[in-house]
Amino acid sequence: MILVTGGAGYIGSHTCLELLQQRYSVVVLDNFCNSKPTSLHRVENLVGGKMTVVRGDVRNRALLRKLFTAYQIDAVVHFAGLKAVGESVQQPLIYYDNNVVGSVTLTEVMAEYGVKTLVFSSSATVYGDPASVPIREDFPVGTTNPYGSSKLMVERIYRDLAVADPTWRIALLRYFNPVGAHQSGMIGEDPNGIPNNLMPFIAQVASGRREHLNIWGNDYSTPDGTGVRDYIHVTDLALGHLAALQALQDKDGVLTVNLGTGQGHSVLEMVSAFEAASGKKIPYRIAPRRPGDIGACYADPALAAQLLGWRAELGIDAMCRDAWRWQSMNPEGYFETERVQELSFA
Ligand code: NAD
Ligand code: UFG
Repeated sequence: MILVTGGAGYIGSHTCLELLQQRYSVVVLDNFCNSKPTSLHRVENLVGGKMTVVRGDVRNRALLRKLFTAYQIDAVVHFAGLKAVGESVQQPLIYYDNNVVGSVTLTEVMAEYGVKTLVFSSSATVYGDPASVPIREDFPVGTTNPYGSSKLMVERIYRDLAVADPTWRIALLRYFNPVGAHQSGMIGEDPNGIPNNLMPFIAQVASGRREHLNIWGNDYSTPDGTGVRDYIHVTDLALGHLAALQALQDKDGVLTVNLGTGQGHSVLEMVSAFEAASGKKIPYRIAPRRPGDIGACYADPALAAQLLGWRAELGIDAMCRDAWRWQSMNPEGYFETERVQELSFA
């Protein structure tokens, strides 16, 4: 059985779907601070399977002990955490507590129960402003905000753990820019308030919920001057977690890999691709650079192919098509009314 922390969230829900589809048993632990049980309900409906869903916090040691006692957990996929860069600057302690303390507590309890296989959500943000692209895993790391620092700290803690006890099997997955939605249009990204990220913002402009997109700068040293990123379809990303679980089956130690496509796309390219996928015009204005942004960031995905036997398959047309399907079918995101049965361990 796989424990998925943060399984109701954007990437977690897509990963739960793929896990169920490949006949894994899944228990989700989520406090729903940034998600709704509806996503899990929809995953169950799509797959025609069941998960165990526990409402609770990954920092709650007593609850974790109950979970590990009640279920025969073989491995953990750890998504639970906070991810808003700007908010992390305003409220750093909340980020360090959730992301770092949560990750430490989880592994302490895992060790107590002899469960030592772990897949962790890291981020390309650990590379800071890279000296060159594509980015390889051995590039220098450095962060510019508490969110990024919390991810880098957890990576370091987990590496130290694996040195102290080499029987740990840990995959540190550095995601690039996850976008899109499941091809059914039933699960997707449901940001609170005004989206910060490009793709959900574009989707809301296309649907008429927002008037225009602000493009944060067109004076970067990129082909068209707008920021270049490695957008990866969330289904490809989810499959990367299954590949990591497989790879850890016969390998002790730590795997650190980029999960990206290796292709960089500019903001203007994404706007055109979304217009083509949706048949809608995306009005935009060029605005000043966003503080903290970098020009270009995309992965060298070779190590993931070598170590995990995984590579991303879907391109920006599929990403935009599926993001648009999700947006059109769920203009207001998830509704609260659909519920799953939750177990109470309180
Ligand atoms: P998300 O917010 O949609 O999902 C995170 C889930 O964790 C949510 O369901 C939330 O309710 C839950 N959660 C948060 N704190 C918790 C806690 N203390 N206890 C239990 N549950 C908790 O975010 P996502 O985009 O799915 O990201 C998943 C992970 O991937 C995060 O760790 C994030 O930092 C990392 N990541 C995301 C991106 C991205 O662009 N989406 C990029 C790189 C890394
Ligand atoms: N952009 C706009 N207008 C918007 C939003 C974004 O022009 O309204 C541009 C940005 O300037 C950037 C590109 O679109 O060039 C992508 O921006 P996102 O906010 O979607 O993504 P980022 O690459 O800035 O950040 C993402 C995650 C962070 C993570 C980082 C590095 O949101 O959490 O990748 O992995 F830290």
